[in-house]
Amino acid sequence: MIIDQLEAPLSGSLMPTLPGHSYTDPDLFALEQEKIFEQMWNCVLRADELTAPGDWRVVTVGRERIIVTRNRRRQLRAYYNVCRHRGMRVCTEDAGNARTLQCGYHAWTYDLDGTLIAAPNLTKMPDVDRESYGLRKVAVREWLGYVWLCLAEDPPSFEETVLGEVSDRMGTTHSIDSYGIDGLKVGKRISYDVQANWKLIIENFMECYHCATIHPELTEVIPEFAEGWASQAGEKIHGAAFGEEVRGFTVDGSAGVSTLPTIAPDQDRKYYAITVRPQVFINMVPDHVIWHRMTPVSESRTLVECDWLFLPEVVDAGTDVSRSVELFHRVNEQDFDACEKTQPAMSSRSYAGGGALVPSEHHIAGFHAWVQEVLGG
Ligand code: FES
Ligand SMILES: [Fe+2]
Repeated sequence: MIIDQLEAPLSGSLMPTLPGHSYTDPDLFALEQEKIFEQMWNCVLRADELTAPGDWRVVTVGRERIIVTRNRRRQLRAYYNVCRHRGMRVCTEDAGNARTLQCGYHAWTYDLDGTLIAAPNLTKMPDVDRESYGLRKVAVREWLGYVWLCLAEDPPSFEETVLGEVSDRMGTTHSIDSYGIDGLKVGKRISYDVQANWKLIIENFMECYHCATIHPELTEVIPEFAEGWASQAGEKIHGAAFGEEVRGFTVDGSAGVSTLPTIAPDQDRKYYAITVRPQVFINMVPDHVIWHRMTPVSESRTLVECDWLFLPEVVDAGTDVSRSVELFHRVNEQDFDACEKTQPAMSSRSYAGGGALVPSEHHIAGFHAWVQEVLGG
């Protein structure tokens, strides 16, 4: 009797997970989009993807498409990609450069601050306020060289949410600032189209119980991961030490590239990782930073963009970073493969009541409690 088994209490070492339908229910996914991704700060672009005035890109946040641009003063601006006349997409490509943004339907035209500046016969409609019929604005911030957006009408404080979460986890001694992430440059970007719910990807990233099974290269470089305790399992972040013979965070443990000059002594020869809810993972090693951004597409599909960030001189000199990239690329493929093989079972009758968290995964229960609280219990 499957149902009886599901209802049996878990033993003391085990804690319950979310039920299976949390990963498969489209209505629940829509609620997550509304209450999580459309309310919180989302990391969407590397800031140097928009350099010149008028550079623009269209990105996805929650269920919305957002134009991000730089105005003439090079300030970041973001607004919904929805024409205020009758709703056509103003930008129909993913990226470009423009002095003004003109809708292709009836030619309403907006400046780079989103203000309506021209439309056929607009002068004959003097009552139309150009500011209030400008493109609807979205809150935008730049931090660590990334562009962050928030769709909430009244955005939560960036300092209290994003910065607060990072400094709570890192503490002052392991400051993220010493990696100088805003000054680094993308040496490699790989996009992954993962056929799994976004929560499975976060849960996987938070634990290392799976490391010994699926990450042979990673556990060679960081032997303590074979014991299953993740860098982020404790209350404060724990720097996971490189193996004694290991020379760098590379696929074969060979030397990496130039060390980031401002890291603290206790950040050398160590790996740190944090999750910034709801969609960013940051991995820090002495010579580079690996930065993941997730964009949930549906209850069973998530896009993940992963950047490998190095010192600008390393990238500009064309230094071979392939062994550094290959290590975490393999980790990504191994992790996403595990998530994709888990997703289909989430709708199984045998998983309706969920599964179990072992002690080295107990901190995932905190993530589950947070999701449930945000969704309203
Ligand atoms: S819908 Fe954009 S100008 Fe008419
Ligand atoms: Fe993993």
